[in-house]
Amino acid sequence: MNQLEVSNDTSVLEVPAALDGKGRLTDDCVRKALTVMDAHGLVVLTDLLSEEQADVGAELIRQTIDDPDRKRGAFASETDNHYMRRDFCSLPSTPLVTSFAAGLCQRLEGILARYCDRSHPLLEVTTLTSYLGSSHQYIHRDPGGVISIFAAVEDVSEQQGGTVFVPSTHMYDGAERKHSGNAYALMELFRIRCNCRILVYNLKKLWRMRKDRAAPLAPGEFLDRVFSSKWDEHQPNLLRFVLGKNSQFSLRMLSPRTLWKLYRHRKALGSLFHLVQTAPRKGTVILYLSDLLHAGPDNRSPHPRRLFSMSIARDSIEPKRWHAGYSPHPTLTERPIFYGDLLDSPLSASRGHRAPLP
Ligand SMILES: [Fe+2]
Repeated sequence: MNQLEVSNDTSVLEVPAALDGKGRLTDDCVRKALTVMDAHGLVVLTDLLSEEQADVGAELIRQTIDDPDRKRGAFASETDNHYMRRDFCSLPSTPLVTSFAAGLCQRLEGILARYCDRSHPLLEVTTLTSYLGSSHQYIHRDPGGVISIFAAVEDVSEQQGGTVFVPSTHMYDGAERKHSGNAYALMELFRIRCNCRILVYNLKKLWRMRKDRAAPLAPGEFLDRVFSSKWDEHQPNLLRFVLGKNSQFSLRMLSPRTLWKLYRHRKALGSLFHLVQTAPRKGTVILYLSDLLHAGPDNRSPHPRRLFSMSIARDSIEPKRWHAGYSPHPTLTERPIFYGDLLDSPLSASRGHRAPLP
């Protein structure tokens, strides 16, 4: 298998944030951002947060990470979380967290209004920290009908594992008709091809980590990541891969027919789709439609990668589906917050241009 080919050129996805006197995106900026969202399924808004605003978000994350009673998430990779390769947790609905989330929503209202009604629930507010030695996630789609927001509260380098996206693979009415009506089938083939390479990449990396002093394996970690029977969709777990127990990528996806298609369409796949890795600077905010193909890469640097994240439903959502696909903090489950509540939040409303959000 060839190595995963990833571009670092995000220029077509970027829109510099332009704010009006109330600290909200200008109409012109909203128009540009929506054009990029429509075409690619995501937009990278640079300089949306000031240094001070990003610092507030970073402090929220620090406080959460330092809390021994924090609510660790089951998403991303439970095994990585267990071995402290990642620390993904839900943030509680404290006034400070809610205010930060509200400030972001109010600033982004022009874009979010296209997708969210005031009655749509906030599904989760989380912090995504990854450390050296984490696995590269498989390329996947999050549950559909959601818009997710990542805020870089400090610089994130490529080495630290800025999120990888496959632009223009989001799903919408008519999308399947692209590429002679084969768009979704070709996207799935591309995903399988990428995930073959990610499996090999992760296995090689784990093998090297056996003798790596910078990121030594914990007792039992190798077995847990490669041969465990425990559920985890983003580890190079050979046992679950062979048994077909990984819904993201398993041997059952590599039927002779699929292998033939991968070979037959190899050139088309290479020209139609490509992986782009983001490396957001402090203050950059990324919005993406949840059904866009993406993955959280491994952190290849000694510096932790931290992101603030929140997701809002683009439709009404069944509680069962909500809790299966997202990780609301118990305080959010107890007292749901809706998009309209965030827009109305007095904590951050009418704050001036570049003022701290809370
Ligand atoms: Fe995801």
